[in-house]
Amino acid sequence: MTRLGVNIDHVATLRQARKTLYPNPTAAAALAENGGADQITIHLREDRRHIQDRDLFDLRRTVSTALNLEMAATQEMLAIACKAKPDTVTLVPERRQELTTEGGLDVVKLESQLAPIIQKLKSDGIEVSLFIEPNMEQIEAGIRLGADLVEFHTGRYCELSDKKEIQVELSRLKEAAQFAGEKGLLVAAGHGLNYDNIEDILRQIPEIEEYNIGHSIVSRALFVGLETAVREFKEIFKEVSK
Ligand code: PXP
Repeated sequence: MTRLGVNIDHVATLRQARKTLYPNPTAAAALAENGGADQITIHLREDRRHIQDRDLFDLRRTVSTALNLEMAATQEMLAIACKAKPDTVTLVPERRQELTTEGGLDVVKLESQLAPIIQKLKSDGIEVSLFIEPNMEQIEAGIRLGADLVEFHTGRYCELSDKKEIQVELSRLKEAAQFAGEKGLLVAAGHGLNYDNIEDILRQIPEIEEYNIGHSIVSRALFVGLETAVREFKEIFKEVSK
């Protein structure tokens, strides 16, 4: 069945809003795993607006599924990743002013900068994922760089409201997922997905093997608890795979 990575950044957002010790991302990760999460995803941002370095090391000790660290491709982050040893590093673009990750990483343009970083992560036994737009040139550059996975940015799909435009975007995602899969890459997707818009993408693109979802799950958790919020997502996955 399709894997669900639960992004718990916004548990830390709530904590950082008051600089308290709660809510604790480590406790959140355990609840997400109880609810059926296949992976815990966190983004250690350069400005440390939510997840802190200590969270990463605590989660490395306690997560029993898999830990996926999203980070910018910088020397500072590389050193931290090689120390913490998450199962996967997802390289993402990062701009300080942005509310959230806007657009995919331009791996075509950044190929020579990314190469040594990817090499080092891989030589340390860390799987490498690239967060990119669903675009053939980006996928090809990812293959040249030796990435294990690509994660497609679903922000555009999630923002559209016109049914025809949504269908065009789903076709673009499907074509890219097929292409990446044929080339031997694992295919993930994420950004902006929620309990409503997940169904069409799940049904139409079985080639996507993993989703990383955060904001909608943590928001739903305020009303039903995190374990249930995760379980509800997994139920949709099960329903669609029948
Ligand atoms: N995948 C990547 C690479 C991301 O950067 C994010 C946002 O941090 C997500 C998935 C999750 O997005 P959302 O919080 O909108 O579900």
